[in-house]
Amino acid sequence: MQDNNQNPAASGGTALGDWIEARFPYRQFLRNQLTEYYAPRNFNFWYFFGSLALLVLVIQIVTGIFLTMSYKPSADHAFASVEYIMRDVEWGWLIRYMHSTGASLFFAVVYLHMFRGLMYGSYKKPRELLWIFGMLIYVVLMAEAFMGYLLPWGQMSYWGAQVIISLFGAVPGIGEPLATWIRGDYLISDITLNRFYALHVVALPLVLIGLVLFHLIALRTSGSNNPDGIEIKEDKDENGVPKDGIPFHPYYTLKDLVAVGIFMAVFFFIVFYMPTFFGLFLKPANFEMADHLQTPEHVPPVWYFTPFYAVLRAIPDTFGGVLAMTLSIVILFFLPWIDRNPIKSWRYRSFLYKLLLLTFAGAFIVLGYVGIQPASTTIDQIGWRMTQLYFLFFVVSWIYSYPRSNRYYYTAFAIVAGVILMFDLWRGPDAFAWAMSIVPLGLTAIFLLLPTVTRLDESKPVPERLTS
Ligand code: HEM
Repeated sequence: MQDNNQNPAASGGTALGDWIEARFPYRQFLRNQLTEYYAPRNFNFWYFFGSLALLVLVIQIVTGIFLTMSYKPSADHAFASVEYIMRDVEWGWLIRYMHSTGASLFFAVVYLHMFRGLMYGSYKKPRELLWIFGMLIYVVLMAEAFMGYLLPWGQMSYWGAQVIISLFGAVPGIGEPLATWIRGDYLISDITLNRFYALHVVALPLVLIGLVLFHLIALRTSGSNNPDGIEIKEDKDENGVPKDGIPFHPYYTLKDLVAVGIFMAVFFFIVFYMPTFFGLFLKPANFEMADHLQTPEHVPPVWYFTPFYAVLRAIPDTFGGVLAMTLSIVILFFLPWIDRNPIKSWRYRSFLYKLLLLTFAGAFIVLGYVGIQPASTTIDQIGWRMTQLYFLFFVVSWIYSYPRSNRYYYTAFAIVAGVILMFDLWRGPDAFAWAMSIVPLGLTAIFLLLPTVTRLDESKPVPERLTS
């Protein structure tokens, strides 16, 4: 290989560039990571969301640094300092709205990024660790957003934190001491605000940046998956270049720039014209200062937590609800070992698998809606049924991992339907609940009984090279 350090003309750079390169090989690094890094040629728009997540991470860190210059982390001054930022600090309103909008769009981008992983089986071998780092990022992101939400010290900040921290109180034996330890006090106070500030501003961003780095190292090691789910590294030309690969730079750097442009247009449209986003990004009640003597009638979390909040509320027992909510997140970590079907992309998986994944995504969205609504009999029932469909995805994915005999499907159906009915009995069903049980039972029948009488569970042959 050419020694660029010795020959400035050959390197195409300046003498200063060569001098630096000899001491800090930035060109070599850029070559390795960009121009000589080959990515599959068939990335579609779903592959934009990783770069967009990186972009939002940077926006959050930069705007966050500017916010801390005027924000006061104290129960007496926090609310007023946010008002001060909004009204008196030059461009303060812009920085604050960029940070609050960034928080919501971060989750929107990450949810789409995760769904892409589900569609194309990007969590499967050899990308299990990449997925796990992603899941760790997601959990830390949730903690980061939860703690940040307390900082403006509005009514929703205060009571939202109150509801979530009190959930720890439901843990048998150690619940109350645990909740007090998290708050640092017997109720949410200045002490809680201070520790949440330290964690939100210093500790968790550091952890996030570290995890994103691990995520990218794992990605660079296994290489990207793609919409066909074919490993391009397995088919290389005589120069060792994957036949279906193209250099990341300039092809994907430029393609990603288009996505950045579109994203920024959407982002600033929201920041300038609808920063509260119909009360989803910033709630009206949070423009009132926290009052520990006045509980708001309805305290829903911010939209990105509501699917899990709906799972929590679907179980009548608080500790049971906490367990179900925790399980609904933890189970995602294990997806690489739950769905062991060697076909990665849903393009080549069966019709029934596609339906299963869409049912899962639909249940997640409906759970998100249910979590925002005040409790009522109907909302409660829908939340319960969607929770069942959420978990059904994992059970059926596990069953679909291998070809099964008809007997296996009948037995699986009997067990799953039995479990659904058992939980229904435990919850104490009324006529409405019985009628609604048709939803999980019907879908279980479709996923587990249809394969015995149709060929809707048959996968398509996977081509040897990328198709588009
Ligand atoms: C701060 C948050 C995150 C950042 C900055 C980030 C960044 C990235 C980037 C730049 C890529 C490559 C481009 C792409 O494939 O879109 C990527 C790929 C990937 N990410 Fe993330 N990510 C984040 C969160 C997550 C989460 C929460 C998950 C899932 C739990 C996840 C799972 C994956 C997977 C499986 C891939 C490989 C996809 C494929 O090759 O098909 N990431 N990520």
